[in-house]
This record gives sequence, structure tokens and C-alpha cells, in this order.
Amino acid sequence: MYVAGLLTFVILLLGSCRAQASDHSAAEAIGECAGTDKRPADSDSPVLLQVSQARHHHVGNSPELKWVNDPLAVCLDGSSYGFYWQKASDPTASEKWLFFLQGGGECTSQASCQSQCGNGTGLTTSCGLSPSQECGFGGECSLQQWHSVIATADQKFLSVDPVVNPVMHGWNHVYMPFCSQDQWSGTRTSSNSTWGYRFAGHYIVKAVVSNLRAHGLAAAGEVVLSGVSSGGMGVYIHANWLQDQLPDARVVIAPIAGFFGFGYKYAGPNPNPAGLATFTDATTASYVQLWESYLPQECASRLGATLSYRCFLANFSAPFLKVPQFVIQAQTDCVQLLLNDYLPVPTNLSQVIQPMFGNADEIDRAFNQQEIEALYGQLRRQYLTHHQTRAYMEEYKYNNSIGLMASLKQGDGIFNPACFVHSNFATDKPLIQGKSFMDGFGEWLVNGTDVRLQDTCGLLCGHCSLCIWA
Ligand SMILES: *[C@@H]1O[C@H](CO)[C@@H](O)[C@H](O)[C@H]1NC(C)=O
Ligand SMILES: *[C@@H]1O[C@H](CO)[C@@H](O)[C@H](O)[C@H]1NC(C)=O
Ligand SMILES: *[C@@H]1O[C@H](CO)[C@@H](O)[C@H](O)[C@H]1NC(C)=O
Ligand SMILES: *[C@@H]1O[C@H](CO)[C@@H](O)[C@H](O)[C@H]1NC(C)=O
Ligand SMILES: *[C@@H]1O[C@H](CO)[C@@H](O)[C@H](O)[C@H]1NC(C)=O
Ligand SMILES: *[C@@H]1O[C@H](CO)[C@@H](O)[C@H](O)[C@H]1NC(C)=O
Repeated sequence: MYVAGLLTFVILLLGSCRAQASDHSAAEAIGECAGTDKRPADSDSPVLLQVSQARHHHVGNSPELKWVNDPLAVCLDGSSYGFYWQKASDPTASEKWLFFLQGGGECTSQASCQSQCGNGTGLTTSCGLSPSQECGFGGECSLQQWHSVIATADQKFLSVDPVVNPVMHGWNHVYMPFCSQDQWSGTRTSSNSTWGYRFAGHYIVKAVVSNLRAHGLAAAGEVVLSGVSSGGMGVYIHANWLQDQLPDARVVIAPIAGFFGFGYKYAGPNPNPAGLATFTDATTASYVQLWESYLPQECASRLGATLSYRCFLANFSAPFLKVPQFVIQAQTDCVQLLLNDYLPVPTNLSQVIQPMFGNADEIDRAFNQQEIEALYGQLRRQYLTHHQTRAYMEEYKYNNSIGLMASLKQGDGIFNPACFVHSNFATDKPLIQGKSFMDGFGEWLVNGTDVRLQDTCGLLCGHCSLCIWA
């Protein structure tokens, strides 16, 4: 969920990072001050080198870059869409598919779309670049990056390491870069009154599914649809749709940081000037209109024509899911709170909040759990000792947990830590009852039990990771 404001926010933090590089030796050591568009090379980073070597035995098949050949399924600027398919390395898993939708904001105005379209500086790097160079977040796609960052460090579901990803390491992995800035929902392909841009997220999902049918997807037995942030929102939007497309498969969803209800801007002192899209009732309606969003049909027909736009948000669509879900969502999502809803940025805590699109493992490894606990102690002191921020966080948590918990059917699962995180779910943290989201998900998928991992300790008191969005 990032708009122009996110960019401003990132640039501001980057600016301060540069200015005070010497005060941030930990961040500097892991390459955080080097810029958003370059990840540190292996040789610069003993940690990464060590990790790469340890993973050498689990590289899996090389992913194949595939192009969709559909004039409707194009990126924001009309450029062609490419995605990655890593064929199942486990022959017994050839009928099992993981789809992963990348996140990375939305745009809702000419200015924000233009800045997302910034050759290597915006979130949608496709604009003006060949999609073979894009992996969103200003990173260039390459096999090296695939193996050392995307499929391992940042998104554990894509890992080919059986220790990290016990259930899905050998499956077909489909990684879909995000370049439509519409939460994967759009069907707007004319550039009429969209400043020359297209919003074709839904068409892209359709085209990828259609492309892969001939490559074995038609015979799929088990499909997990996952994604993070905007990608997590896209997961809710396409859950029932995908099951309808693949009626013989068992489709389940695992959205990460994709549960959104209406946002209510923080109105106390020191609001964060990031100024991102706040999903109020009125703005949600206007975005759905701008993007001509595809809406989950069961929800839309139940809410009726006037209110169907609400089905864009999981708070409204999740009760109509026909497929099982395992939800991965923090109780206090740091991106929603800071960037969508204007919560003040805590002072002197740039280590906690790393709005950089780097290697989450590397950033995490720079801090041990004791240090993270100490940072959370400061975070609690800043947020929870002030009435307004405390009350806001409590309300946010309450407002969003009602819909989330009510949407869980028998057989569904949840991993819901009391943490200030967005996308940074790793295998060593956050932990709930000693289990990671991956442990909970594996147990849920394999054993089919209701896995309800939810902290009940209060605010910001889980076994947490840092707020990094990857
Ligand atoms: C790409 O970068 C150049 C120079 O850095 C800049 O002048 C141009 O406006 C950028 N294009 C877009 C679409 O952002
Ligand atoms: C495009 O714009 C023209 C003129 O403003 C309008 O008449 C037409 O209906 C629009 N077409 C679409 C598909 O929105
Ligand atoms: C979630 O949806 C319910 C109706 O189903 C509504 O009453 C509630 O206000 C919504 N909450 C948020 C945060 O959008
Ligand atoms: C932040 O750091 C400055 C300089 O070290 C210090 O004076 C200030 O009290 C700190 N603020 C908080 C809220 O800890
Ligand atoms: C919680 O929801 C109520 C409406 O149900 C709203 O008035 C309030 O501002 C919301 N608070 C937050 C922090 O989302
Ligand atoms: C499934 O349940 C069995 C028996 O309770 C347990 O031993 C096993 O670890 C579970 N499998 C997973 C993947 O959690």
C-alpha cells in the first residue's frame, strides 16, 4: 500500500540515512544507506555470502521468464508483462502450484502514477524498462537475485530449501512481479481519463493462468495462492475466481499483510506526513471506479450494485470466500498504520522501521533478539505512554480484528502476532507459542487442522521482527 507519499517517505528516510550515515553503522553495514535500487553484492556482504553458500544445495530449477501474449494484460505504461515460473523440482509435486503476487503500492492520481513509473526509482520499474529487468522495488531481476533474495530471503513460501519451506519447496513456483498499481484488480485498458496509464491487474492474473494451463496447470491438484501487501489484497480479490478457473484443483489462499478494512486517519499530534491512500469508504469507491476493479462476485452480488465497491477490501469480501484460507497478518500492521493511516513515526527508531526493499534476512541478522526486544521497548514507550497514539492503536487493532476473526470458517487458519510488522514474516520470528507462520501454515495445509496462532498479550508484545517491507 504505497502511493507517492511512500516515495516521499522513503526518500526522506534515505536522505536522513545518508546525512547521518555514521550514526547508523548497523544500517550502513548492511547496505541500507547505499540506495534503494541496488542490493549489496555478495562479495560486499559476508553474511549474504555465507547464506548463499549454505543454500547452494537448494537452488532448485532455474526460473523461466515467461511473457504473456495478451494485449489486455499489460503494465501501467502499456509495456508487456513477464512473470517467473520455477518448475517443480520434486517430481511428486508436479501437480502442485504456488502462485505469489508481489506487492508494491497503488497509484490513484497522475502524479502518483508518474512517480511509480520511475525508471528504477519508482515502485513500478517496468515503465520504460524491459520487464526482464524488473522485480519491482527498484531491483533488477536476475537469477542471482531470484535465488538469494526473492525466493529465499524475502518470501519464504518461494524457498526451495526444505528446512525453510518444508511443504512447498519442491512445488511449481510462479512469481508474479507487480506492475499495474491497482492491487491486481484493474480491467481498465483504455487510456481514456487515466492520464495514458492502464490498470490491468486482473487481466494480468487471467493471462498468467491461461498461459500456464498448457504447461500443466490445467491438471493441477493443489494450488496455493499467496502474495504480500498489495499482492495480499490481490489474493483476496482472486480467491474464488481462481477456484472457478480450476474446478478440479483444491485452491487455498495464504494472504500476507493483505487484510484491509476501512482506514481512519490518525488525527492526533505529529501525524506522519507520508500521506498515502487511506482506504475510507469514499476513496475506496473512487479507486475502484478509477481502476475499473474486478470484484469478487459472491460478495458483489450480495452487497448490491451501490455498495459492491466495498468488496475490494478483505474486511468485506472475506466472509464470502469459497476456499480455505490461512491468514498471515500482524495485529498492528506497521505500513497500514504509518503510511496509510498517518500514525506518527517514532523518533530515533529508524532501526525498527526499514522502508527499504532490501534483503530482509540480512537486515534481521544485523540485530539479535535481545536488541529487537530493546527496540520494541522503546517503541512501546513512545506509542503506549501517549494517550492519543495508544488509543489509536487500540482502536485500529479492534476495528480490524473483528472482521478478520469473523471471516474465519471452520478449517481456516491464522497467524496473527502482536507485532509492528507488515511483510517481514520469517522462520525465526515473529513466533507465536514458539511457532513461525511457516510452522503454522505447514501444519494447517498438511494436517487440515484449524490453526489459530494469535498473541493475546496486548499491544506490541509478541516475539517480533522489524518493520521491513519487502
Ligand atoms: C527516468 O530518469 C530520468 C533521469 O534520471 C528522468 O529524467 C526521467 O524523468 C525518468 N523517467 C520517468 C518515467 O520517471
Ligand atoms: C472517452 O472519452 C470520451 C470523451 O471524453 C467519452 O465520450 C467516452 O465515453 C470515453 N470512453 C470511455 C471508454 O470511457
Ligand atoms: C468491516 O465490515 C463490517 C461489516 O461487515 C463493518 O461493520 C465494519 O465497520 C468494517 N470494519 C472496517 C474496519 O472496515
Ligand atoms: C532521540 O535522540 C536524541 C539525541 O540523541 C535525544 O536527545 C532524544 O531525547 C531522543 N528522543 C527520544 C524520544 O528518545
Ligand atoms: C474504528 O472504527 C470506528 C467506526 O466504527 C471509527 O470511528 C474509528 O475512527 C476507527 N478507529 C481506527 C483507529 O481505525
Ligand atoms: C501433523 O500432525 C501430526 C500428529 O499430530 C504431527 O506429528 C505432524 O508434525 C503434523 N504435521 C505438520 C506438518 O505439522
